[in-house]
Amino acid sequence: MSKLAWLTDIHLDFLNLAEIQAFAEEALESEPDAFLVGGDISIAPLLRTHLLLLDHYWQRPLYFVLGNHDYYRGSVDAIRRELPAFLQQHPNLKWLPSEGVVALSPATALIGHGLWADGRLGLAEKSAIRLSDYVLIEELKDKAQKELYQTLNELGDRAALEFEPILRAAAKKYEHIYALTHIAPFTEASWHKHQISDSQFLPHFSCHAVGEMIRRVMSDHPATLLTILCGHTHSEGEVWITDNIFVKTGKARYGSPQVQEILHIEVE
Ligand SMILES: [Fe+2]
Ligand SMILES: [Fe+2]
Repeated sequence: MSKLAWLTDIHLDFLNLAEIQAFAEEALESEPDAFLVGGDISIAPLLRTHLLLLDHYWQRPLYFVLGNHDYYRGSVDAIRRELPAFLQQHPNLKWLPSEGVVALSPATALIGHGLWADGRLGLAEKSAIRLSDYVLIEELKDKAQKELYQTLNELGDRAALEFEPILRAAAKKYEHIYALTHIAPFTEASWHKHQISDSQFLPHFSCHAVGEMIRRVMSDHPATLLTILCGHTHSEGEVWITDNIFVKTGKARYGSPQVQEILHIEVE
C-alpha cells in the first residue's frame, strides 16, 4: 500500500518561514510516500522559493499543478516556459502535466493539469465578478470584458488540448486514474460555501472546455474510473458526474494550509 497526501490551495505567501516549517512538518506526520499539491501554492515571485522549501522539508516526490495565484505578479507564458529548467535541478519536484502519466501501481495512475477557469459557464461574459487574476496576471490585466473572456476561453481550450492525450493514454491502460487539477472541470463540482457556485462566480470557478473533454474521453472508457482532485473555490464537496467520473473538491483557508486527505493506493 502506498500513501499519498493530497493538499490544495496552500497559499504559502500568507505564512512566514517558521509557519511554513511548522506546516511542512505537520504534513509529514502521516508519513506519506509522496505529496500531491493542487495549485495556488504561492505567487509568481515566490513560487520557486516555496517549492524549494517544501522539497527541503519533505524530501520525497511532490507532484503539483499550478493554480491561478501561482501566476500572480507574473506571466503565464513566462512561468510555463521557465519552470522546466528550474525543476530539472530538483528531481523530487514533479510538475503535472509535464510528467505525463505517472504509474502509482499496475492498476492506478496519476495525471494532472492546473486547468483554467475559462469564463464559459454561468453568466459567462455577463458576470460582474472581477477576480484579482484580471489585475495581477500579465496576460489578463488591462483588458476590456470581451478581450478578457476571449483570453480565458483560450486558456481553457489550451488546457483541454494539452490534457486530452494524457487522459486518453491513462484511460487506455489503467483501471483507476487520479487527476490532480486546480480548477473544477464541472459546474457540479464548483462548490462555494457548501453550495454550487452561483452563475456570477461559475465562469471564474470552472473549466468547461476540460469538463466536456473529460466526459467524451471517459465515455469511451466505461470500465475506467476517474477520480478528480481539485480546489480553487476553497470549499469542499464531492460529486459523481457520471458512473465513472468522481470529483472531490478540497477546502482551504488563507494562512492555515492543511492535508485534505491521505489516499491509499493498493500496490499488487
Ligand atoms: Fe486558492
Ligand atoms: Fe485558485
